[in-house]
Amino acid sequence: MRSFSLIFKQFSRSVLLIVGFAFWGFSAAYAQTDAAKGETIFKSKCTACHKVDQIMTGPALGPQLTEETDDKYLTKWIQNNQALIAAGNPKALAIVKKFDGKAMTTFTELSDADVGNVIAYVRADWKQIQDDKAKAPAGGAVAEDKGPSELVVWGLIGIIVIAFIVILVLNKVVGTLERLLLKNKNLVIEDEPVAVDEHGNAVDKNALLKKILKNKKLVFFILLCGTIAMGSWGWVTLWNTNVHQGYQPVQPIKYSHELHAGTMKIDCQYCHTGAYKSKNASIPSLNVCMNCHKVVKTESPEIHKIYDALGYDPKTQKYDSTAAKPIQWVRVHNLPDLAYFNHSQHVKVGGIKCQTCHGPVETMKEVYQYSPLTMKWCIQCHKRTEVNAKGNAYYDSILAAHDKIKKGEKVTAAVLGGIECGKCHY
Ligand code: HEC
Ligand code: HEC
Ligand code: HEC
Ligand code: HEC
Ligand code: HEC
Ligand code: HEC
Repeated sequence: MRSFSLIFKQFSRSVLLIVGFAFWGFSAAYAQTDAAKGETIFKSKCTACHKVDQIMTGPALGPQLTEETDDKYLTKWIQNNQALIAAGNPKALAIVKKFDGKAMTTFTELSDADVGNVIAYVRADWKQIQDDKAKAPAGGAVAEDKGPSELVVWGLIGIIVIAFIVILVLNKVVGTLERLLLKNKNLVIEDEPVAVDEHGNAVDKNALLKKILKNKKLVFFILLCGTIAMGSWGWVTLWNTNVHQGYQPVQPIKYSHELHAGTMKIDCQYCHTGAYKSKNASIPSLNVCMNCHKVVKTESPEIHKIYDALGYDPKTQKYDSTAAKPIQWVRVHNLPDLAYFNHSQHVKVGGIKCQTCHGPVETMKEVYQYSPLTMKWCIQCHKRTEVNAKGNAYYDSILAAHDKIKKGEKVTAAVLGGIECGKCHY
């Protein structure tokens, strides 16, 4: 029963291969979840005061955690910075001094492993940010390539591995059967003779290439890998068509949100009134700017652009509408016409902060598109965000209508908001 033992031997080898690949995949996947765990903790506990790439209440953690390599100190600091300060640790005292004695919360509930995960996440994220910066063309559009989802990548790797194993196993089985058949016919197969020199090395320079080309399973495997690689490249490219995340056009006036909304703390509503009551947030008219710039920075060439656009003469303080030529702000966010998005529904009814969708605008010198604005992005948030219906006039009316319908009373479309302008008009 030599043939059976042969097949069994080959089968067990294949099983070993599968187990090996599975273990490799598992360990890689496991390493991945560590940084992901760190991300969850970071987002829930640290983002109130820290960002990876910017100074907020506390230092920018990306560079901080990359420069400070003493993980033991960092772990102690993050778990209980007060204890370190009380003990007079020089590093701790130095950083507190640098931040004017602002206090950081203690996180004694975090285990060493938790903190390790957070540190791993921050360092990886910082590296990613720097890599992206190195890749991005200066000043131009930066379409962030997020790549396919993890699932797709693992799926593809899985398919390659399984395909390879199937080919191996089938090939061995066929080989064995062939041998058995020929043995039964009392034929002996020998490998094709290869020309060799006196040291036993192959003489033919192309022998290796020929051998590879002859090896059908190897050729097939290479072709398969090629097809999958091209396929996934095409897939990623198609997915990212028309996604303008990171888009940051140069605006005609050096207007800075960092200065106006950040340093001066002007409320978003002061300029983007529309966001609270209509579909469009709208860009403020230059008259809004004039509320201040009639007297502020009147000599600045940037402010003179506002004057020119309005046909305003600062000397006579008179407007000449015939000389006016409106500023052409470059639009940053732009959904296609086929999608309907309403600001007031989200900001006023949903109570969602501008920053959730637009990022930390108050820290941006120039606005860039923070979110991908893809359908997936809209849908994912709709799946995750819980609606707060308590004390919300919009839901009060819906609940009232709901009760009426339940009782069998007459309900018109108007009761369900059918006469609100925004339901029909852009
Ligand atoms: C309430 C605000 C606040 C929160 C929340 C916060 N930090 Fe801090 N963090 C600070 C401030 C402020 C400093 C600067 C030092 C000081 O003044 O205490 C700081 C400093 C640091 C440092 C620098 C230590 C050094 O010596 O280099 C690290 C690392 C750090 N924080 C990590 C974290 C992590 C991780 C979290 C979340 C688990 C977190 N922080 C949450 C405010 C905060
Ligand atoms: C003093 C007026 C003013 C204030 C306050 C202000 N903005 Fe703006 N905002 C503008 C102007 C002008 C533009 C157009 C120029 C530009 O894109 O920088 C703009 C553009 C934007 C854009 C990009 C619009 C596009 O083209 O897609 C967003 C998003 C935005 N603002 C959000 C905010 C948020 C969020 C706040 C509050 C944190 C805020 N703004 C506060 C004046 C203001
Ligand atoms: C609430 C008052 C206020 C409003 C409204 C306002 N600004 Fe300003 N802006 C200021 C102040 C104050 C400064 C100067 C800060 C400083 O001293 O550097 C400034 C600075 C600027 C500068 C920098 C000028 C320079 O040369 O340094 C520009 C450009 C500017 N604003 C544009 C705008 C535009 C465009 C709008 C309307 C969308 C606007 N501002 C609305 C108060 C305002
Ligand atoms: C739920 C996500 C979300 C929230 C919250 C949100 N925006 Fe927007 N914003 C968008 C989208 C999506 C667009 C693109 C709309 C389009 O192209 O039709 C946009 C566009 C804009 C624009 C460009 C002009 C316009 O009206 O299309 C401005 C300015 C703006 N938002 C400001 C704000 C401000 C200020 C707030 C907070 C009061 C805010 N947004 C809250 C998603 C959001
Ligand atoms: C940050 C989370 C978030 C994002 C991102 C978001 N939405 Fe919403 N959206 C909500 C919430 C929450 C509500 C429910 C608001 C309420 O209470 O009525 C809502 C409601 C809506 C509604 C009204 C549904 C109804 O039946 O009343 C529409 C339409 C809508 N969103 C479209 C969009 C579109 C289009 C996008 C993407 C461009 C988007 N949303 C992105 C959170 C989000
Ligand atoms: C049920 C849907 C619906 C509602 C609600 C609605 N409209 Fe209209 N509206 C329309 C349609 C459809 C037209 C186009 C009619 C036509 O061309 O004859 C229109 C036309 C208009 C026009 C004329 C536009 C033009 O170019 O001639 C204005 C202005 C207008 N609506 C304002 C409003 C205002 C303001 C509200 C809220 C108070 C509102 N509409 C609510 C459906 C609606």
